[in-house]
Amino acid sequence: MIRVLFVCLGNICRSPMAEAVFRKMVEDEGLSGKISVDSAGLGGWHVGEPPHRGTRRVLEGRGIRYDGITARQIARGDLERFDYIVAMDEDNLAGLRRLDPQGAHRHKISLLLDYAPESDVREVPDPYFTGRFEEVYRLVEAGCRGLLEHIRHEHRL
Ligand code: 4NP
Repeated sequence: MIRVLFVCLGNICRSPMAEAVFRKMVEDEGLSGKISVDSAGLGGWHVGEPPHRGTRRVLEGRGIRYDGITARQIARGDLERFDYIVAMDEDNLAGLRRLDPQGAHRHKISLLLDYAPESDVREVPDPYFTGRFEEVYRLVEAGCRGLLEHIRHEHRL
């Protein structure tokens, strides 16, 4: 199994959206038996909560399921367990690197929009205070598409 973990700050807006979008892409391509998907937050404020209403609305509008997704906080063991640890912004990236002070897992850690080179931004902006969930969706979609291509190529799937 190839294990993918999306990471943001609260695990209620961006990373659960990426989890749901990527899971659907993986299912649509018949790769559910090969790629598993999860998400986590660097902060613990929203642990146990379902995705934010803005994220739910965006997903519902596109018929993308998010059942079973609840917020959790990242743990050091996640860095061992997952093969691709994908951050939404530079702050998340810095937070992940603080959890990996020796750099043992550095090669697994990336930014989602590294996989969307056509995008003119490198970070998925935090919509929690701005409400810009549609913009987040467009970026998440592009990043997830590129990430899946990348994984398929690396693993010859
Ligand atoms: P997320 O958004 O990191 O995309 O889940 C946020 C959710 C909650 C908070 C910040 C960002 N917060 O400050 O509680």
